[in-house]
Amino acid sequence: MGAVVFRLALLLVVVLGSLSDLAEWPASVKIGTLLALNSTAGHTGMVAIQMAVEDINIRNSSFLNGTKLEIITANSNCSAFQGAASAMRLFEQNVVAIAGPQASVVAHFVAHMAAATQVPLVSASATDPTLSEYQFPFFLRLARSDRMQMEAVAGIISVYGWREVVAIYSDDDYGTNGIDTLGDALVGFGASIVFKAALDPAIDRTGISKILAGVAQMGTRIFVVHLQPAMGLTLFSEAYLLRMLDKGYVWIATEAIISTLDTIYLDSNYVQATQGVIGTRSYVPKSPQLEAFATRWKKIAEEEGSGLIYSQYNAYDLYAYDSIWMIAYAVRKFLLNRGNFSFVSPTGFQANSGGGSDLAKLKILLEGQALLEDFLETSFEGVSGLVQLDKRGDPSDSAFQIVNMVGKGLRTVGYWTNATGCSTVEPGTNGSIKSDEQKLEDVIWPGGAVRVPRGWMVPKNGRPLVIGVPNKQGYKEFVDTALGPDNATVFHGFCIDVFQAALSYLPYTVPYSFQLYGNGTSTPSYDELVQKVVNKEYDAVVGDITITTKRAKIVDFTQPYTTSGLVVVVPLKKGATNHAWAFMRPFTPAMWFTTGAFFLFTGVVMWLLEHKKNRDFRGRPKKQVVTTLWFSFSTLFFAQREDVKSTLGRAVLIIWLFVVLIINSSYTASLTSILTVQQLMPTIQNIAGLVASNVPIGYQAGSFVEEYLLQLNVPRDRLVPLDSLSAYTAALQKGPKSGGVGAIVDELPYVQLFLSSECDFTIAGQQFTKSGWGFAFQKGSQLAIDMSTAILTLAENGELQRIHDTWLNGYDCGSQKVQIDSNELGLGTFWGLFLITGTASIICLFVYYTKMLLRYRRILKAQKEECSSPDNSIQDNSRRSSSFLRSFVTYVEESEVPKKHRNSSLKKKEGGGTGSSRREEDRSPDNNGGCSSSEAT
Ligand code: GLY
Repeated sequence: MGAVVFRLALLLVVVLGSLSDLAEWPASVKIGTLLALNSTAGHTGMVAIQMAVEDINIRNSSFLNGTKLEIITANSNCSAFQGAASAMRLFEQNVVAIAGPQASVVAHFVAHMAAATQVPLVSASATDPTLSEYQFPFFLRLARSDRMQMEAVAGIISVYGWREVVAIYSDDDYGTNGIDTLGDALVGFGASIVFKAALDPAIDRTGISKILAGVAQMGTRIFVVHLQPAMGLTLFSEAYLLRMLDKGYVWIATEAIISTLDTIYLDSNYVQATQGVIGTRSYVPKSPQLEAFATRWKKIAEEEGSGLIYSQYNAYDLYAYDSIWMIAYAVRKFLLNRGNFSFVSPTGFQANSGGGSDLAKLKILLEGQALLEDFLETSFEGVSGLVQLDKRGDPSDSAFQIVNMVGKGLRTVGYWTNATGCSTVEPGTNGSIKSDEQKLEDVIWPGGAVRVPRGWMVPKNGRPLVIGVPNKQGYKEFVDTALGPDNATVFHGFCIDVFQAALSYLPYTVPYSFQLYGNGTSTPSYDELVQKVVNKEYDAVVGDITITTKRAKIVDFTQPYTTSGLVVVVPLKKGATNHAWAFMRPFTPAMWFTTGAFFLFTGVVMWLLEHKKNRDFRGRPKKQVVTTLWFSFSTLFFAQREDVKSTLGRAVLIIWLFVVLIINSSYTASLTSILTVQQLMPTIQNIAGLVASNVPIGYQAGSFVEEYLLQLNVPRDRLVPLDSLSAYTAALQKGPKSGGVGAIVDELPYVQLFLSSECDFTIAGQQFTKSGWGFAFQKGSQLAIDMSTAILTLAENGELQRIHDTWLNGYDCGSQKVQIDSNELGLGTFWGLFLITGTASIICLFVYYTKMLLRYRRILKAQKEECSSPDNSIQDNSRRSSSFLRSFVTYVEESEVPKKHRNSSLKKKEGGGTGSSRREEDRSPDNNGGCSSSEAT
């Protein structure tokens, strides 16, 4: 029983508590709306607001515990002043929040008032990026900031690689601040706004037309239009009349205009005038809430008939609807947590600065800061997707849809989010991640073009381009002039032909006139010529202009149309081999010495191995020396006549003959080369040798080569400027000692031309720099980009090579100018061979003497056994111990020429010179009874 009473008491407390809570909730909360009610956007925004109010007050009345949103409507009429006046009336009526303002121009003024009164503003359509500044803490918005939108626009521009755009915008806070952020965003993609056409917000059709006619004269064909819808549509209809929606043009419109393009009320003239326009609009994900909203919207549109409502709502309508819900969420949170709202008069403000004005009397929402925090903490799924703000009061997430006006409506060609950039994948789906390749679906461009417009044309009102060409004394193959039939100067040459061929590949005509730079008697400075482009005296320079870092910093070069690079040209070293000792040149001295030493060494080895058993290597010492030398050196011609008896001797000889064969053939080949090819060897081998020498160096006058050589620390007094190829020949022929030059440093194309007719000179060493020739245009020139593409086309289809062959074919002496780095063959090439033959000889000697030693020991043992008398024994022992080595040497020295051979030899040598042979045979151990062979000698 007690428990039941306790429970009832508890229930009563809860019910009473709830009732007391409910009792604290006000019957209504005043909310202001600040829209330009006479504009289409203001009207549709108001419809959306009313839908939301109806939902909160009637359909979901429990959401605010029965508290009603009391809407106080004010008309801002798209004017800052009128907007401020209307806003003041709202503040005077103690509204706790305002849905609006609609336009950025109004928002700026009102945001200051909101900061003073601490009443939050929630705008559905003010997009000016500066409204996110901390100076406007009470300005909140569901519309996406133009900072984000302009990043999306810059993303589109980068997808197509455009570099220059013209911005057309309204000259107010909305337009100016939006376009400023576009400029910032483009910098990141290497693009820029080349012209800003700011339209007076009060401009009329004629004014717009005049401005359009002006920008049409410019080269840029990419227009970004950031205007309010009405002015935007007028602009397009005027542009259409001026044929500025033809092929080649690109029009990118921002959301204010895009949001009106697929509405059924759009006049068919506007539909026609906006074909091919692309643009951005806020991305709204599909959701059940959105579907329900769309159904209701359609119903309202049908009920309204031919009013301003059309069946297709836009993102701003959705934001307007969600802004009321956001206010409702924040109010509910506030009422739940903090009780009712209260307003106080700003006494300090009034006293100090406001005087007695109405503005100064505006009351402050005492809990405004707390309410603002409730706004910033609010998060819900609205009809426009997730509604959530960041600390600056901007939507926490911004995604844009990229659309293309085709027929009567907009087709989606891609999406942009901060995280993914431009992509064809819908945000939030699988695959919506940033990829390196930023892309969009195919777009139908103005004029029905399907090819991406290049975005640039030669200015219509422009004078013909003035193109400077170098006028030199020589090198006429590159740039030359002649008198035409009507006495007009005609330009031709390799560089001119390449330029004209490239121009023919541009999809537009470029009027131009060439202007000679230089007097034709000396070569003008190329750096000065390029500087004239920077000074805007020339629009471009065409000729043999080398692309150097210094020049590339001040002008834009096309792709190189020919490769270039510096080389050293020197006279050929003719007659260098016509001296008496030329035959020595194939080998280095070390090689000669080593080869000679090995001949002697091999001869000695052969003698050692052979002279015991081979009669040819025996005889008097002098004869043996002569035989050995003769044998050894005759192997050079494989003409040795002495028989080789021993196996070891044959092994040594065969290896040696192999080595001789290689040395022989190498010598022959090297000598042949010296007497033919190497006659053409240059006097200086490369740039390093040239710089290190002190010979004067010739270079083409006016060329960058002078500066290059100075950078290599070549003293200026060694540099000799030369004006023509004939001056090259004369200077090189004179040589350094007679006032000429020892070498010329120049670029390969000139040198090739020079060598095609001059065969007494050659290129020393390798090309030591790499660069190319290009045409120079003013920085940022679109023509430079288009010409680069055209040059690539020329290169790919072979036309560039054909032009080259027409002007620069030749190089007749080229085949002779083979460079050989080293003249002489050295030990480095042959040491392996010497190692083989040396090692083989030493091994054979070792084997031979080991065998001899063993044999000798056996003989000594046998003799010891035979002659074992005590006297002999004593005598032998002392002898052996004192002269074993001598007796071994004697043994080795002793002849073992076989008898048969000896007899035949004796017969052969009978009658003369045989005394020594006989004496040797007498000394043989076989003939002296064995015991006293050593003594007998
Ligand atoms: N081709 C010479 C120079 O550009 O300096």
